[in-house]
Amino acid sequence: MSPKSDFYPIETIQPEWVLEQEALGTKKKFWYRKNRSLSSWLFKYPQVGVGQHWSEKIAAELASEVKIFRAKVKLAVFDGHKGSATENFSEGADLYHGNQILAGYVLGYDREKKRRQSDHTLVNIFSALDKTFNEVALKYKRVMADYLVLDALIGNTDRHHENWGVVRKHKDGKWSGYLAPSFDHASSLGRELVDEGRAKSRLAIMRSSGGMRAYSERAEGAIFWEKTDNCGFNPIELVRRANDAYPSIIGPALKKLDLLNKRAVARIVERVPRDWMSDIAKSFTVDLVWYNLGVLKEI
Ligand SMILES: Nc1ncnc2c1ncn2[C@@H]1O[C@H](COP(=O)(O)OP(=O)(O)OP(=O)(O)O)[C@@H](O)[C@H]1O
Ligand SMILES: [Mg+2]
Repeated sequence: MSPKSDFYPIETIQPEWVLEQEALGTKKKFWYRKNRSLSSWLFKYPQVGVGQHWSEKIAAELASEVKIFRAKVKLAVFDGHKGSATENFSEGADLYHGNQILAGYVLGYDREKKRRQSDHTLVNIFSALDKTFNEVALKYKRVMADYLVLDALIGNTDRHHENWGVVRKHKDGKWSGYLAPSFDHASSLGRELVDEGRAKSRLAIMRSSGGMRAYSERAEGAIFWEKTDNCGFNPIELVRRANDAYPSIIGPALKKLDLLNKRAVARIVERVPRDWMSDIAKSFTVDLVWYNLGVLKEI
């Protein structure tokens, strides 16, 4: 077990730090700034009984371990409510979401349709990045590939078109832009299985012939392969298929997984304090990441 001092620190948000609500997204959330610090942070309340706060934190730490660009996340408490806080990565800049970018390039793209948006294909995303970044597009397609590999590692099913974007800054009369760090990893890491259910379902899937595979590889993601597909591709299947189609883009992202081992995964998960995440949740999460890592390493 981790020594107490090794647990992630918890930020207690003071009422006077609160700035304003964030309207985008489905979860309740608000921005705050601690005293005069440079960065503001987005506090997100998890849905009742769901581990969306620890999934945000663990996902960010795993991304950092494998050198994938991601927003920084803290565990935070406001008014007795446990949640997660994500550092603002577009302070003083503009964030253009995937749907705004795709609508500019894909004829008839419905930017309001977040679920089952079958124009949200990898081909369209890569082609929009080509048109946005021109001669430096390969660099940003590789960063996007990192996010796809991260999603597959953590079982993130929610990479819809408002969960990625481009940050643009205007400085000294010139515009510059880059792909925003990966953010919103709340829908990952088995966070939806409340503890008793998690225990039961964990045992059930372990007894079934498919084991963890049944859990991990049946989940639907939010990026499509073909416009005619009925549902988004499973995040692992997406990486598999994308690696066949774009090996020079996906390959370097897969290679980053060499930086991760089981001990590192366990340490990242164990650092969540006991009263935030139960032992069974931790062991399920470690098994899930380890399973996904094994599958991804075979691609
Ligand atoms: N760290 C950040 N820096 C800047 N903007 C952010 C950051 N995190 C989130 N946002 C903005 O806030 C919006 C909502 O945040 P987020 O996606 O985390 O919430 P959510 O409620 O979990 O969303 P969803 O409906 O996708 O589940 C994002 O789409 C983005 O516009
Ligand atoms: Mg979101």
